[in-house]
Amino acid sequence: MEEALIVGRYLYWEQWVLVGVVLTVTLLLWKTLWVSRGSRKNQHIPLPLGSTGWPLIGESISFYRGLRSAQPRQIIQDHEKKYGPVFRTNLFGRKRMVVSVDPEFNRYVLQNEGRLFQANYPQSFRNLVGKYGLVNVHGDLQKKLHAVAANLLKQDNLISDFMDDIQNFLLADMQRWQHKGVIHLQEECNKVLLKIMGKKLLDLSPSEETEEIYKAFEAYVLAIISIPIKFPGSSYARGIKGRETIKRKIEECIQERRQNPQVIRNDFLTKLLKEESWPDEIIIDLLLFIMFAGYETSSTSMAFAIKFLTNNPRALEELRVEHDSLLKDNGNRKLTWDDYQAMKFTHCVIKETLRLGNAGLGAYREAKQDIKFKDFVIPKEWTVLVLLFGTHLDEKYYPEPFTFNPWRWQNESPLALSDNPWFMPFGRGARLCPGFHLARFEIALFLHNFVTKFRWEPIGDDQICYFPAPTLVNHLLIRLYDR
Ligand code: HEM
Repeated sequence: MEEALIVGRYLYWEQWVLVGVVLTVTLLLWKTLWVSRGSRKNQHIPLPLGSTGWPLIGESISFYRGLRSAQPRQIIQDHEKKYGPVFRTNLFGRKRMVVSVDPEFNRYVLQNEGRLFQANYPQSFRNLVGKYGLVNVHGDLQKKLHAVAANLLKQDNLISDFMDDIQNFLLADMQRWQHKGVIHLQEECNKVLLKIMGKKLLDLSPSEETEEIYKAFEAYVLAIISIPIKFPGSSYARGIKGRETIKRKIEECIQERRQNPQVIRNDFLTKLLKEESWPDEIIIDLLLFIMFAGYETSSTSMAFAIKFLTNNPRALEELRVEHDSLLKDNGNRKLTWDDYQAMKFTHCVIKETLRLGNAGLGAYREAKQDIKFKDFVIPKEWTVLVLLFGTHLDEKYYPEPFTFNPWRWQNESPLALSDNPWFMPFGRGARLCPGFHLARFEIALFLHNFVTKFRWEPIGDDQICYFPAPTLVNHLLIRLYDR
């Protein structure tokens, strides 16, 4: 009896092994067949070459691991070598997906926003930004909301509305950093950026109450880059809760302005309420989106610039000379627009930081119709992931792409977006980042104050991780010294 049981158990175990082997062989066969199917031209439509990887998960795991590794471009390079710079794949739940690191195709896709393509970000992200978050709106409404954002953030407004506030917040926070001595620079940049955005959008001044909003906002942004699983305590659930907190605060601000129209305020919400008669839902989602889009991206670039400069003393020295010379007559004065325009080397540092740091990693687009480009067709409703980072770190366009080399930009005009056709940190076309003036301006003012006030040394080594959003793994821990 006991023997029969043992045999039974043995058979049971053996059967499972058999099932496992059969399943693995089937999957491998399926994958091989699928890959070769993908690599051949489709009978009717010449799809880009590529592989759809494993059933269900596609190539998600290999891309996830590859993009987070120390050689983040390797996985792209391997695909490019096999299939070309525009390749088919199955990533993050999207079976009908094409990744592009072809600068010409990238421009074509972005320039044709609204006509041949439209933004189509992952559902979890779209849920967080709300129905009227800019990436969720298309057509005339997108044009209108985009124009309003671009108008708020245009160069003239930076001079009149942002210049003083940005410098005041930077100076106040840098004094705090000075007292602390040791700081996580990435976190501190996040905080100062949130204060700037809170002030300019909603006229919030730092207080206990705004501290709460800032915390809610941090949870919100973390959710955007986390795994979108909603269970109590998960990052995604905390982010949704954070969104509700900020939403309530914006609603309060709207009520307050409606009840007290006589109060003079110089913030975006007040202007919006005066100039537009939109439903509150649109105003809330627009404000939240601008706040989100303008926070993590600029603050990450500030911390990245310091990380890159730390490792490149020659660039740091040249930057310091430029900024010290601005202050040679008066060491305590604030900067003017003329100073900003005169910072030639600083603009090279910013461009190189945007190239190497890639705060805007890529853009998702959906084809609105079958689209023929070169020798392939992107069928209607397929997603194109325009991987800007893949081009920015490509040695075909940038020799020694992982070397921080600001001098590679020295022949470009400083304030121009770029003469370089494959450099698109702010995207292109109808969704070109409306915050691009502000972002560069903030980074320049930050660099000026930081390098003229401090020397610093890193504590421990820090690594860049590019996925799901570029970040410094240890938030750049540094010790500060007065200069
Ligand atoms: C280094 C900083 C920044 C980078 C690298 C960056 C990058 C980008 C990119 C690549 C896009 C286009 C996305 C697409 O085509 O789907 C974009 C869109 C956008 N950005 Fe930025 N951005 C930065 C800073 C800012 C700032 C400071 C603001 C505002 C305060 C801002 C507001 C926006 C908005 C509202 C959009 C959506 C435009 C639309 O869909 O019509 N960004 N950004």
